[in-house]
Amino acid sequence: MNKKNKSSEEIRDWRDMSFDVLMRIFMALNLVDFAAVSMVCSSWRDVCRDPSFWIANTLDLSKWKHPPTPTLSSKIVSLLSSLLNLSNGQAHCLIFQFQIYIDNRDFFKIAQRSPNLKRLVLPGWFPDFTKKGIDLALEQWKGLESLTITNTYIATLFLEAIGKYCPNFSELKLTCHLTLNIATTLAKHVPKLKVLSVQSVRVNKNALVHVVKKLKQLEILNVTHSFIVTGNRPDNTEIYPQHSIPTLLKNMPRQPTTLMYCNGFCDRCQDVFIGNMMHKWRDPKEQIWCEDEIPSLQI
Ligand SMILES: *[C@@H]1O[C@H](CO)[C@@H](O)[C@H](O)[C@H]1NC(C)=O
Ligand SMILES: *[C@@H]1O[C@H](CO)[C@@H](O)[C@H](O)[C@H]1NC(C)=O
Ligand SMILES: *[C@@H]1O[C@H](CO)[C@@H](O)[C@H](O)[C@H]1NC(C)=O
Repeated sequence: MNKKNKSSEEIRDWRDMSFDVLMRIFMALNLVDFAAVSMVCSSWRDVCRDPSFWIANTLDLSKWKHPPTPTLSSKIVSLLSSLLNLSNGQAHCLIFQFQIYIDNRDFFKIAQRSPNLKRLVLPGWFPDFTKKGIDLALEQWKGLESLTITNTYIATLFLEAIGKYCPNFSELKLTCHLTLNIATTLAKHVPKLKVLSVQSVRVNKNALVHVVKKLKQLEILNVTHSFIVTGNRPDNTEIYPQHSIPTLLKNMPRQPTTLMYCNGFCDRCQDVFIGNMMHKWRDPKEQIWCEDEIPSLQI
């Protein structure tokens, strides 16, 4: 600040700053600073609690610096708790950090404090989730429309719960393999799905055919860079290159309006291919979790 000019200017109290100006400043803060400014005074707290703030903003924990291995982070859970308290139930979009562990109890508490959630991006790891825990949480999130799921085991549990509680659900991203089991669960419980992204993962051929056949309202299907296979093991599987995907689906009674796949054998496809043949990921999973050119699924 320029001290020379200060005396000639009108000195105003921070607390007199207009609501709109404060709102703009606060929107630019990271979540820790945001939680901190909410404790400065009651007028700042009111700005932080304003519903328009929460409807416009994403509660995005993904940019957080995190430990290299999955961690049960009580610090993040307690920050999230106080942010959700501020939101007064108005939060619309919650993106977890990839490396965080959440247990059933914390997950339910988070759901209770965000009943208006429309988009949820789950973290990468779930050590102990139960069907009951997922059911209880999804029962709170009746308005959920979009979900990113990272784990094959919990995928079916989430899809069943979505079928039970979330009538407006329309958009799904999977960063785990698309198995036949997930495909049949999806078709059975979420038949009105409109957008499905299974890019850069292993996709079972019959699962792919099943979702295209059964999801009659599917508009966008992104299978770019995915590895289409018939079996579970490299020695009993047939592998389909990306450019054969339209041929695989050509006899379907209907196609998604937009089908995304890769024309050639690009570096990314090669990485996914080698990763699958070696039963490991060469690509950082977190990168797949973040990226998507379907803008509403990006982080
Ligand atoms: C959030 O609110 C709940 C219930 O109102 C309270 O028990 C809890 O301590 C609050 N959490 C934080 C971190 O402020
Ligand atoms: C589903 O969407 C409709 C139309 O936007 C809305 O009126 C309804 O409240 C939504 N249902 C839930 C459970 O959020
Ligand atoms: C589908 O995913 C791939 C890989 O991330 C991306 O390059 C492509 O643009 C996506 N297509 C759409 C429309 O989302």
